[in-house]
Parts: sequence; C-alpha cells; structure tokens
Amino acid sequence: MLRDGPMIDAHRVTLPAPDDFDGWRDAARDLAEAGVPASAVVWQVEGGEADLFGTATMQPAAPSFPVPRAFVELAQAVVCHSDPERFALLYAMLLRLKSNRQALDDAADPLVRRLQDLAKAVRRDIHKMHAFVRFREIEAPDGARFVAFFEPEHHIVRRAANFFVNRFTAMRWSILTPELSIHWDGATLSEGPGAARADAPAGDPLEETWRTYYASIFNPARLKVGAMLKEMPKKYWRNMPETSLVQPLIAGARQREIDMIDASAVKDGLKHALEAERRVEPGGNLRASWEALLKDARKCTRCDLYRHATQTVFGEGPLDASIMFVGEQPGDQEDIAGRPFVGPAGQLFDAALEKAGIDRSTVYVTNAVKHFKFEQRGKKRIHSKPGAGEIEACRWWIGQERDLIRPPVTVALGATAARSLFDKVVTISKVRGEPQTLPDGGECWITVHPSFLLRIPEEDRRHEERALFVRDLKRIKERAAELAA
Ligand code: URA
Repeated sequence: MLRDGPMIDAHRVTLPAPDDFDGWRDAARDLAEAGVPASAVVWQVEGGEADLFGTATMQPAAPSFPVPRAFVELAQAVVCHSDPERFALLYAMLLRLKSNRQALDDAADPLVRRLQDLAKAVRRDIHKMHAFVRFREIEAPDGARFVAFFEPEHHIVRRAANFFVNRFTAMRWSILTPELSIHWDGATLSEGPGAARADAPAGDPLEETWRTYYASIFNPARLKVGAMLKEMPKKYWRNMPETSLVQPLIAGARQREIDMIDASAVKDGLKHALEAERRVEPGGNLRASWEALLKDARKCTRCDLYRHATQTVFGEGPLDASIMFVGEQPGDQEDIAGRPFVGPAGQLFDAALEKAGIDRSTVYVTNAVKHFKFEQRGKKRIHSKPGAGEIEACRWWIGQERDLIRPPVTVALGATAARSLFDKVVTISKVRGEPQTLPDGGECWITVHPSFLLRIPEEDRRHEERALFVRDLKRIKERAAELAA
C-alpha cells in the first residue's frame, strides 16, 4: 500500500493518515535527534485537528538512536488510537527513551501507563472487530462476495485486516467502515473510501439468510453469555442480525442446532457461507495460519532473549482444544527440545494432568514468553525470571495464538502467565479457583506454576499444594466439559 510521507513544516508535522506509524516514526526520530522538546511540536493528521502548538524551527536530522523493540510495538498500537494527543505522547516518551533506554520499564510512570492504556484500548478494539464483523453474502456481477459493515472506535482497520485475510483467504470479501473500506479478492488486499452503513446490504431476504446462517453455525462451546453481554456493546448489535437469536439459541438444544444446519445448508447463499466457515475449522485455513505464525515466531527478535536462547519454543496441541494452558517461559530442557513443558516442571505438570483426568494430547500448551531467559554460571544455565518488557514484547504471540484457537477455557500457570494474559499484575491467591474474564472476553482460571510445586522443601506442604493444584485442574476440566456439553 503506497502512502505519502509526513510533511514537516517548522515543528508542525502533518501525517497523511491517522494511523501512520511510519510517518510518525520518521518525523519523531528527526525531531528527537534535533533536540526539539515535546512541547514545541504540533502533530496533526491531514484534514484533522492539531493537538498542540509550537513555534521553533526544525534542525537537520542526525543519525537515529536505537529504541527498545517493546516501544516500537507500543507505538504501532498507540498511533491507531483516536486520541488526538497520541503522537505528542509518543514523542514525549521517545525523548525519555533517548536519555534512558529503560524508561518504559517504569510501569508506575503516568506517561507509560497512559500509553499502555491507549495501546490496550486499541487491542481491545481490534479484538472486537475480529469477533464482531459479520459478513453478508451478496451477488456481485462477477460472482458472490461477502460484505460487512463495522464501526471501530479507533483507526484499527489496516491493523486488523490480516486476521480476515488469514481466516477467510478463500472468500472474496469487503469490510466497510466509516473511515475506509478494505477489499480482498482472494489474492490482494486493497483499500477504498469509507462507507455509510446503508452501503452494506441489509434487510430481507438476505437478512433472513444471514440470521439462519448464524443460527446454524452457532457454537455453544464458544459462547460466554455474561462475557458476551459485557463485551458486545449495544452499538455493535445493529450490524449483527444474529443478536436477535441469542436468547433462543442459549435456551435451545444442540440437536435443534444440528437440524438447522442440515435443513438450512441447502438454501441459496447459505451453502457458501457454511463452507467458508468449515474451511477455517482445524485442518483448514486455521492450521495454515497457525503454521505461518509458528514460522514467524521462529524468527522472533521482539526482545533480546533470542540472542542467547537456542530456539523459540512455541505452543503445541490441537487447534480446537477446549483448554489452553499458559506457562511462564521455556526452561533449559524445553530450550533444547523446542517444546514446552518437557523438563522437570513439565513432568510434574503431566503427572498432575493425569491425576485430574486430563489427557495432555487434547490441550494446547504454551508459554507467556517464548525464549529461555537464563544466567550462565559455569556450565549451568540458571533460569531467570522474564521482565515486564519481555512479557510485553511476547504478548503479541500469545494474542495471536488466542485469536486463532479461541479456547473456551484458558489457564494461567503462575504470575507471569497471568500478567501476560491480563496485562497487569495479578495476585494468584486472590483469584485462584474462580473463573476470571480476560480483556478479550475469554474465560481464564489462574493457578500456581508447576515449578513452584517443585521448590517447596517441606514434604507435608508439598503434598498439600500438589493436591490443591490437582483440585484446580479437575475443576478446570469440569468447566471445559460444561462449556462444550
Ligand atoms: N516452565 C514453563 O513455564 N514453561 C515451560 O515450558 C517449562 C517450564
């Protein structure tokens, strides 16, 4: 996609698009190198309003300075926010990082917190778009096309587009939003102007087909009623015809649903949609997307841990697993084997799973951080805890894994996993044993990490804690079965 670069006039920077990360980065780098203070820069988007006003004159750029990868990722998300101050806030942070490369690690700093909140709101909006876009099939002159209308809160459409390309590769589709439209023809993604809601097809008989389609593919294992009501603000409902069916479907029996699939699958238009949905079930596009993700993860340099680790240790397990277990990071043996939970903690985990009646081959097991962090002491590599920056850098991968797998139940094994999944510090003792709602709406159970159980010196307490861990696993198993029943 070709885009114009930023225009820098004195210290007024005009970006051609509201989510123009590259334009912001180039201008910010030049301004920071020239020592221009944050208060002297006006950031604006072409045709939009400016945030701050400054007067000084621009100096020529010098060579750029390195910034942590975590900041680049934070900034890529923050630029998509609709807050007009976002560019100025990022620039202020960049100036801090210039003098202190660790500045982002101070989670209590108000600027760091504000930026993280903005990034979080953007991620949430992207998640909503992934979850709530609903395509309607229309007959175009050149064949069938799936069209959806969506109103995001932030400038996320370009950022969210890849998900749809991966998920609906074989379909031709368009997503219309007030800011811009994106179109996929099976091979190329293109952009067009924004659209009004009326441009998207709606109303009978298409509307009826649409509702029948959603009724037929409705998956109770993926439905969380409380979370859905919380996560699906009313403003999205009018674009989602199936919301009128939510109540009957919750109340309805599985058999009725199966009958509906069979009866309605032959209707015109519906067949394609059903086929498209089936293609993304495990073994179809989903598997291909996961494999592509794994391939990318193997080359990950999002933080510095890759420099000393042997390899990326990615998640493993069936992609339709009803439980996703998230550990902390691979240990020494996992780093060598390239698989999660195969060392001493993994053996304890396997034994506990067995006692709880969970077959490991039916669950997805992954880690919050995908590279082994250690200290070399002589010949030994001693585990060291991942820091906030490393957890943050690796959250991207777990987010992708969750988006693809969408497990009905996620389990955080220990504090690092909980921190990664909830994007904040969580006290395990306060939340253990009760289902929690993740920022993306999923259900999460939090329990201890198997390594903690390995380290307890007193025999009695060790037995007690292991029994509690097995108790947690049994409850989790029951809950997953309940959701799937
Ligand atoms: N500890 C973890 O958290 N994950 C592993 O894969 C191994 C040990």
